[in-house]
Amino acid sequence: MTTPIAVITRLEGSDERQWMEALAAVLPEERLVLFRDMTEAQRQQAEVAVVANPDPADVAALPNLAWIHSLWAGVERLVAELGPSLPIVRLVDPEMSRVMAEAVLAWTLYLHRDMPAYARQQQARVWRPLPYRRPRSLTVGLLGLGALGTAAAGRLMDAGYTVRGWSRSPKELAGAETLSGDAGRAATLAASDVVICLLPLTAATRGLINKDRLALMKPMSSLINFGRGPLVVTSDLIAALDAGHLSYAVLDVFDQEPLPPDSPLWAHPGITVLPHVSAPTDRQTAAAIVAANIRAWRASGRIHAAVDRTRGY
Ligand SMILES: NC(=O)c1ccc[n+]([C@@H]2O[C@H](COP(=O)([O-])OP(=O)(O)OC[C@H]3O[C@@H](n4cnc5c(N)ncnc54)[C@H](OP(=O)(O)O)[C@@H]3O)[C@@H](O)[C@H]2O)c1
Repeated sequence: MTTPIAVITRLEGSDERQWMEALAAVLPEERLVLFRDMTEAQRQQAEVAVVANPDPADVAALPNLAWIHSLWAGVERLVAELGPSLPIVRLVDPEMSRVMAEAVLAWTLYLHRDMPAYARQQQARVWRPLPYRRPRSLTVGLLGLGALGTAAAGRLMDAGYTVRGWSRSPKELAGAETLSGDAGRAATLAASDVVICLLPLTAATRGLINKDRLALMKPMSSLINFGRGPLVVTSDLIAALDAGHLSYAVLDVFDQEPLPPDSPLWAHPGITVLPHVSAPTDRQTAAAIVAANIRAWRASGRIHAAVDRTRGY
């Protein structure tokens, strides 16, 4: 008999129940047990846990875990909260990449086709066509060329934009100019009409988009942050918008979520606030990926590519 799989979440009841159903449907051969329902013997036996916002104490209460699988793509909390020797497998789901690429294209089009300006003009009953710009004439700079950034780059290139990408290690991406290092970041920021942040939150990326980096951005360019809130220093962003250096920001992620009612971001005329919706996890496709990774481990004993704990992603 195989060891039970622990499921550890702090999700709301119905959400948790739907995850259990989705996982059970694709892993009929496994015994999936919610952490709080596990017997002491099961806690001793569990070698794998599937987690979503887990209480770190619950993870620590499973002494024989070999690895954990996160249901989310971003794992900065797990990296910070769990012991450094426990392998963390994060969700890498082509469906999530597709959805993120769709969101990137939608909000790039929003900026490219001057929707913020037309909304302001409508408020003031102003009828004034703005000059049309071909997509090729706009450079879109992607910070982060991982699973999500690469998919977004492809979608943007298909739509005709000029794409630049920046990553930690050098990357090749047909049709796009790719850069790395501090000089590459500065060149990407300086050349881009729209900068899109799809970086993970790590010690190296926290506060990356600060006053100095915003100053490097092209005058009247825009920022889209779909990565994590603390990548951007909010007060510096507001200052750059208020000074007229940046024209607009689309923010899906924040230092504190839900965004507190007294945040100045809500009412800022140069900001669109989204409630962390650019690429929600798809329960069915995510469960199938978790199942495949668990099955592969059962068959071979090999853990699917785990998060590099020293890099933090
Ligand atoms: N808003 C949402 O709904 C939503 C949904 C899903 C995910 N996310 C966020 O999106 C993030 C990215 O996801 P992903 O799956 O694309 O991650 P990923 O595959 O790990 O890719 C991360 C990219 O960022 C680059 N990078 C990391 N640290 C860097 C640094 N210090 N300097 C320069 N580049 C750096 C990596 O460079 P290398 O290529 O050299 O490794 C890689 O290209 C997640 O961590 C999560 O926080 C948001």
